[in-house]
Amino acid sequence: MKVRSAVLGAGLMGREHVKALKKVAGAEVVAVFDPAPEVAAKAAKELGVPQAYTDLDELLRREEPEYAVVASPALYHAPQSLAAFAAGAHVLCEKPLCMNRAEAEAIFAAAKKAGRLFTMGFQTRQSRVDRALKRFIAGGGLGQVYHTRVWSGHVMTYPWGRFHHRREYSFGGVMAATVVHILDAAIWVLGCPEPVAVSASCFLRLDKMPDPPINFIGAVGEVTVEDFGHAHVRFSDGSSMSIDGNWLMHPSNRGVGFEVFGVLGVAKEGSPVVELERKSEIVPHQLEVEPEPEDRTVAEHAEFVAAIRGEGEPQVRFAEALAVQRILVGIYESAAQGREVRV
Ligand SMILES: NC(=O)c1ccc[n+]([C@@H]2O[C@H](COP(=O)([O-])OP(=O)(O)OC[C@H]3O[C@@H](n4cnc5c(N)ncnc54)[C@H](O)[C@@H]3O)[C@@H](O)[C@H]2O)c1
Repeated sequence: MKVRSAVLGAGLMGREHVKALKKVAGAEVVAVFDPAPEVAAKAAKELGVPQAYTDLDELLRREEPEYAVVASPALYHAPQSLAAFAAGAHVLCEKPLCMNRAEAEAIFAAAKKAGRLFTMGFQTRQSRVDRALKRFIAGGGLGQVYHTRVWSGHVMTYPWGRFHHRREYSFGGVMAATVVHILDAAIWVLGCPEPVAVSASCFLRLDKMPDPPINFIGAVGEVTVEDFGHAHVRFSDGSSMSIDGNWLMHPSNRGVGFEVFGVLGVAKEGSPVVELERKSEIVPHQLEVEPEPEDRTVAEHAEFVAAIRGEGEPQVRFAEALAVQRILVGIYESAAQGREVRV
């Protein structure tokens, strides 16, 4: 029997999830939900999904999906995840997890109460190089880690759509929507250090530009999120992390990634070669890497569907998702208050 799946939110990412799930042998997409009738109907018709709903409760009652993918704006992640768990579904929730810490804890409590599995849409977790790096760090290959540098963004583009530029729907801008992928990957690869304090600054550049690049559906005057952010995080093990995000990067900027600094050397996200240091000499260490999946979103679903069938564990653990959410909440609190905050 295939795992009966439903995708909640049929926008850009919801459609990607439908397409990816259709490539997973053990799953079938039985329905999509979107409150906009034309969006739901169009997605179902174009992607070959049998049912389209504009009422989530009706979908959950009638279809009884075993697996729900929450791909709506962040404002709806917690209520829709809670509804899906209550209806007996396992949940993959898109990033950012939700709007605050209390909602995150409510999602985890609901999953536990329902005895259902939870994961998140973090495709970077599918990188086999990063999995090898995680094993290398856990085995002590870098020695004690004392600092991690995280950076991400886009070249002169906000995310497409009607919601990402409005904080009341999205939770935040570049830090919550884009940096979150690399931040999550870093927290995971590091073995989930405990964040204790965050100091951050955020900036909105778009509305000050003489010729702002507008690729989203909306006006400059509606933008309530940051397009630049910078943060410093302290962890309970004494290590630190610097985080930079920018949606309006100049093309000559550095792209995305993280770098881990350990007592024995430096490792870079996505690189199979770790640079160990012997005094001023670099001694390259080649990681043992399994073949990369062809499509990370397909691989993400295949892994979670297997976990639903009792074959393996979900990729994202509550503790990791909560650590990332606490850092993001800390970033926005610190930036608003102009001081370091405890998280
Ligand atoms: N993992 C990734 O690489 C990735 C990439 C893009 C977006 N995302 C995430 O996916 C989610 C959706 O983003 P998107 O780019 O597809 O946005 P989008 O605006 O294209 O689509 C969101 C859809 O959700 C619908 N929706 C669902 N419930 C709703 C409700 N209660 N009220 C109003 N609208 C509702 C909207 O009508 C819309 O069609 C976000 O959390 C985003 O951060 C993840």
